[in-house]
Amino acid sequence: MARRGPALLLQLWCVVVLSLSMVLSRKADIILFGGDIITMEDGDLSRDQGKARPLEAVAIAGETIQAVGTLDEVFRHAGPKTQTVYLSQQTLMPGFIEPHTHPIWGARMLKQYTSIGLANFSSYEEIRSVMVNRINELAATPNSNGWGAFFGWDPELISDLPALNADVLDGFSDTIPIFVQGRTGHIAWANHAALRAANITKTTESPPGGKIEKDRDNNPTGKLLGSPAIEAVHNQMPPLEPHTFARGLEDQWRSYASAGFTTVTELYHQPDPGLDEVLRRSTDADDFPLRLALYKYVQAVRDVDCTDCADGDAGGIGEYSSRLWETGIKLIADGSPHSGTAAIREPYLYTPLTETLGFPDPPGYGILNLETRALFETVRRYHRQGKKVSIHAHGERANDQVLNVHEQVLSELPYQDNRHRIDHLGLITEEQIERAGKLNVTLSFFIDHLRFYAKVYKTNIFGDRVNRWTPLSLATKNNITWTIHQDIPASPGDPTPFANMKTAITRCTRDDPTTPYGPEYRVSIHEALKSYTVNAAWQLHLEDKVGSIQVGKKADLVVLSENPYRVDPFDLERIRIVETFVDGRRNKLARLKTVKGTDLHVLDSP
Ligand SMILES: *[C@@H]1O[C@H](CO)[C@@H](O)[C@H](O)[C@H]1NC(C)=O
Ligand SMILES: *[C@@H]1O[C@H](CO)[C@@H](O)[C@H](O)[C@H]1NC(C)=O
Ligand SMILES: *[C@@H]1O[C@H](CO)[C@@H](O)[C@H](O)[C@H]1NC(C)=O
Ligand SMILES: *[C@@H]1O[C@H](CO)[C@@H](O)[C@H](O)[C@H]1NC(C)=O
Ligand SMILES: [Zn+2]
Repeated sequence: MARRGPALLLQLWCVVVLSLSMVLSRKADIILFGGDIITMEDGDLSRDQGKARPLEAVAIAGETIQAVGTLDEVFRHAGPKTQTVYLSQQTLMPGFIEPHTHPIWGARMLKQYTSIGLANFSSYEEIRSVMVNRINELAATPNSNGWGAFFGWDPELISDLPALNADVLDGFSDTIPIFVQGRTGHIAWANHAALRAANITKTTESPPGGKIEKDRDNNPTGKLLGSPAIEAVHNQMPPLEPHTFARGLEDQWRSYASAGFTTVTELYHQPDPGLDEVLRRSTDADDFPLRLALYKYVQAVRDVDCTDCADGDAGGIGEYSSRLWETGIKLIADGSPHSGTAAIREPYLYTPLTETLGFPDPPGYGILNLETRALFETVRRYHRQGKKVSIHAHGERANDQVLNVHEQVLSELPYQDNRHRIDHLGLITEEQIERAGKLNVTLSFFIDHLRFYAKVYKTNIFGDRVNRWTPLSLATKNNITWTIHQDIPASPGDPTPFANMKTAITRCTRDDPTTPYGPEYRVSIHEALKSYTVNAAWQLHLEDKVGSIQVGKKADLVVLSENPYRVDPFDLERIRIVETFVDGRRNKLARLKTVKGTDLHVLDSP
């Protein structure tokens, strides 16, 4: 044994030297050139080409970016098998990273519910007929056990929708359970059959963090506020079949990839052994085009009781793969501006629309879902475990509560770069943003609401407060690494980073480019692009891996039809997503065509 030692060492040494030289001489698998290259690294801005080093090509070897530089520098890595792809004067940049959205929740909602709000309806008449058709279908299926479940009720976008309650829904059927969820998932309405199925009666108390509305005689009205109350009914529905869920997920992956995303973050993952198995398989598939980071939803109050603390930490996905992992914990401090439940300082306006939307009686200041103590205990627990905590907080009161909790946690436990986040931040104030900066709490803004709802906010919900909705420029001023997000399907429409960036840059609604809401809070295209690349990567602790084009990082890339720095902000949505790469693999959104008589390829948009 002793004599074989040196020989073994020598062998090992040879293996090391050999593999090292293989790595060093490894030839590129793909070289991309012939278009603008935006790295999102400081100093390499394609918009200041005068100053910046000319970047003409990018080489990919395996999963990794091997070289970035001039044609000379990069083509040194070319070998006989390298695929050379001419960008046809299009633009290459880091793939987009969505920091807050809901592909899993979306897959479930769009498969378990009939959609009545994806901006493809314009009147109650149309929605009513969708609902009636679905109920008739169920009535004609004996023993179907089916529910008339509808998602996306949105009286702000469709102005003639009536106020809902159990009696109104009984008008569709009083035997088939009917359940209608509002756009944002913070409010829902059930008919009496659905209430019966969930055993909700006069004597049922509201669950912690939710509200079962009762009338003067203590009868449930059918209106449910907050996830725990909504889930009490939702959970009685026939469960989603695994294969249906799998199809829903595939739809979601396609939708995000074709919007240019290479990483997306699900902020509402509820561990479920069956569905998680489907999720793992779906992300293991060869054609899974994304990375998916999860925040696990935790009910603070339950955890504080600690009757099932262990359970609070068990279950879920963990660090499953480089494409699917749990990155943090999600808590929900307040509700939504669309249901009068975001916890604000000055009351909501009170109008016929807010009544239809189901706002609580005036004066309405919204609802704090959690006891401060419960929130504190929960944040402290996960802070100590080194986990990231993301807390949904829209109104000033919710932001105060969350910042107080962070301050208290940090006064007890040392700062350790958890990158705790506050999400949405509708009416966060300047002073609160300063505090967040000092507490190293990072921010992710839900600005997409301005695009659809700014006018309704002004006339029916907030008045002039709409002008300070998600004041992004104040976060920049306070040196905060911030992001914007879309939160689909809590926001209407399909994922589209350029529509969201346009809103951040213009602060106008989708149909009125002449009226900016709070123009002093606009940001530049550069800041908007940082949000969707380097900043989002940083918030997810992924900055060493993705978010910019840099040698050694993962080759997660997007090819755009135009350079966003050179497009009028109001026209950003015309930029087409040509192709994306994740881990150096092309997701085949475009065809790769060979140029006759050469070994060149071009990406040909379908
Ligand atoms: C609504 O629009 C979405 C997206 O365009 C589409 O997938 C869906 O089928 C439409 N729904 C109806 C009922 O037309
Ligand atoms: C319904 O609620 C009542 C009283 O709250 C309880 O006694 C009963 O067991 C519940 N039934 C079901 C099926 O949950
Ligand atoms: C914020 O982070 C810095 C390091 O970047 C640290 O020195 C400081 O103490 C942190 N602040 C708090 C309140 O923990
Ligand atoms: C932000 O950073 C700049 C430059 O590092 C510094 O001068 C400024 O004081 C910082 N502002 C705040 C509010 O921390
Ligand atoms: Zn969300």
